[in-house]
Amino acid sequence: MIKSNPRLPSSVKLVEVGPRDGLQNEAKAIDAQVKVELVNRLTDTGLSYIETGSFVSSKWVPQMASSADVFAQIKRKDKVTYAALTPNLKGLQAAIDAGATEIAIFGAASESFSQKNINCSIKESLERFSDVVELAKQHNLNIRGYVSCVLGCPYEGEIAPEAVADVAHELFSMGCYEISLGDTIGVGTPHKVQEMLVAVNKYVPMDKLAVHFHDTYGQALANIYAALNMGVAVIDSSVAGLGGCPYAKGASGNVATEDVVYMLDGMGIEHGVNLDLLLAAGWFISDELGRAPVSKVSNAMRAKQSS
Ligand code: HMG
Ligand code: MG
Repeated sequence: MIKSNPRLPSSVKLVEVGPRDGLQNEAKAIDAQVKVELVNRLTDTGLSYIETGSFVSSKWVPQMASSADVFAQIKRKDKVTYAALTPNLKGLQAAIDAGATEIAIFGAASESFSQKNINCSIKESLERFSDVVELAKQHNLNIRGYVSCVLGCPYEGEIAPEAVADVAHELFSMGCYEISLGDTIGVGTPHKVQEMLVAVNKYVPMDKLAVHFHDTYGQALANIYAALNMGVAVIDSSVAGLGGCPYAKGASGNVATEDVVYMLDGMGIEHGVNLDLLLAAGWFISDELGRAPVSKVSNAMRAKQSS
């Protein structure tokens, strides 16, 4: 097995964001039972981290209004993290009441996106987050931090790597144990990814960084490969390539977990996920949504089976 780059990790953690990032943008209300079944199936695949829902305003993101019901009904396994996004103290309290095992706060490297997404400036968001972090720590909850628009913004275009580094630095200093860098609109390409990682790495160690790519321009796997080569070992992905962002018009789904797993298998990098069960989970939710998975691997494997 060729492992030319000594920084290439031998194993990675996959953060499954399908039930939250994947479903949040679906226009038609999805029954809580379907979401529960999806999370249970994802649990059975061996994934160790499932972003299960978010506690945000139901006026802003109606699809996530059933998150408390979903948390109440899922079959949990030890050692699996069932996380929730929480933009403020109200969201945190709801996540605690629902039994989320970890929370995530979510900021942006772009002022305009911050305003559209969470209705406040970057500075105001950091003040809010610091209250959330304090209370979450009192409840012994780990806190993950997101930075959106790290390689481009739907409203402002190019984003400077230093702007990403500043927000990542703030979130890390506040107490987030890991910073997920989101290419919300999927415009990044591998060398831009590496340039951005170099800037962020001045303040946050590589082993505390995750990458979160949307595949709008078909660059997500190439970008993940570029990040792996820099030593990043945490990858966010979404089963069946579900997703989009309510505040990033035209943004397509996150990179499909199935495609990431297939690539990691081919590279001999461990991830702990059973691909067959993952494929079945992807088809389950896609059938519910009335369309095929966006994952190339899912479609190729099904075509092979039926030929
Ligand atoms: P606001 O309107 O500024 O907040 O929203 P507010 O404090 O003025 O409250 C307004 C109303 O919302 C009140 O209700 C509050 O009670 C309610 P009313 O009195 O009008 O009936 N409210 C809440 N309800 C439930 N849960 C809460 C909550 N907070 C207030 N936590 C707020 C501010 C942040 C709440 C709003 O802007 C919001 O919910 N935004 C949703 C943002 C969101 O979920 N975006 C998608 C996720 S981010 C993403 O996908 C990117 C990521 O994947 C990374 C990447 O891809 O790059 C993470
Ligand atoms: Mg996202």
